[in-house]
Amino acid sequence: MIEIRDLVSSDLPALLDLCTRALPLDTFSLPLLRARVLDEPEHQPHLQLAAWDKGQLVGVMLAGVRGGADETSAAIRLFAVEPAARRQGVATRLLRELERILQRDGHRRLTVAQQAPVYFWPGVDVRYTPAICFLEANGYERSAEAINMEVDLARRDWDTTEAEARLSTQGYEIRRLRDTDRESFGAWMCEAWNPTWVYEALESLKNDPVTTWVALRDGAYRAFASYDCTAFPGGFGPTGTDPSLRGQGIGTVLFHRCMQDMRALGYAKCEVCWTGPVAFYAKAADAWISRVFWSMQKDLV
Ligand SMILES: CC(C)(COP(=O)(O)OP(=O)(O)OC[C@H]1O[C@@H](n2cnc3c(N)ncnc32)[C@H](O)[C@@H]1OP(=O)(O)O)[C@@H](O)C(=O)NCCC(=O)NCCS
Repeated sequence: MIEIRDLVSSDLPALLDLCTRALPLDTFSLPLLRARVLDEPEHQPHLQLAAWDKGQLVGVMLAGVRGGADETSAAIRLFAVEPAARRQGVATRLLRELERILQRDGHRRLTVAQQAPVYFWPGVDVRYTPAICFLEANGYERSAEAINMEVDLARRDWDTTEAEARLSTQGYEIRRLRDTDRESFGAWMCEAWNPTWVYEALESLKNDPVTTWVALRDGAYRAFASYDCTAFPGGFGPTGTDPSLRGQGIGTVLFHRCMQDMRALGYAKCEVCWTGPVAFYAKAADAWISRVFWSMQKDLV
């Protein structure tokens, strides 16, 4: 007899067990699950559905809502069923219940994954093929694709001495972001980049050392690159160079500074998350496409 109720803090160890068994392509931990699920800024307890069978957590469907007063978007952030309990309708029951709640709350569309800045994946990793089949069987259609790229950190030394000397003759200062930059950097980020990137880059100030590198000229920020923000540990991004200054190697220098750091922190590889310019990373780091995600969507009518 399956019972569905809201996930609570004391369920986190059971959630960790379930995710570890059901999602073998990813690495989970209690702090990560707490940060992404219960402590995420827009946490909605009634959208965190957990299915229990005789005291065992057999499935979860964890969703969220983003956006302001005018437009909101609802998305499933993570769903999984215990391998031994599959093909018995557990996920179907969780999905029906979630869709019912969201319809009642006035949502007209449900997306699977995405939900930056605090998110698990930019879509369903296509290698979780049963998940794709399950969603298609329930009327969901592919709406977007995203990729991650992987970098072998041992492959290069990521030395930037020469490039930084060249940029310095052009008036650029390359340095790690500092806590005292918070206000001015935050203001530049808000003006120049999207709200998701602002949130992610500012989160990097919580890390020690701070995990953002910046390029300045005439005292103004011109480019930034962050890692270990809100994606999985070892994740690179976001990054951006002022559009008028692209093509001068600034982005590459900042990216290589991050690679130096990650290597020093003991990471063997870096995952460039939700990658935009594939060729940039292929050239700057011999990175290769390592994960492909499909975002899926359905109208709730
Ligand atoms: C995807 C998943 C949640 C499905 O859970 P489930 O409880 O087994 O799903 P249901 O029993 O409700 O399946 C309903 C329908 O989905 C489809 N489906 C589910 N698993 C399938 C599979 N392995 N192959 C093909 N179709 C499948 C079928 O149409 C199925 O109906 P049927 O059994 O009558 O043929 C489960 O396989 C899982 O936990 N996978 C790993 C987690 C994951 O990939 N999550 C995505 C990241 S967000």
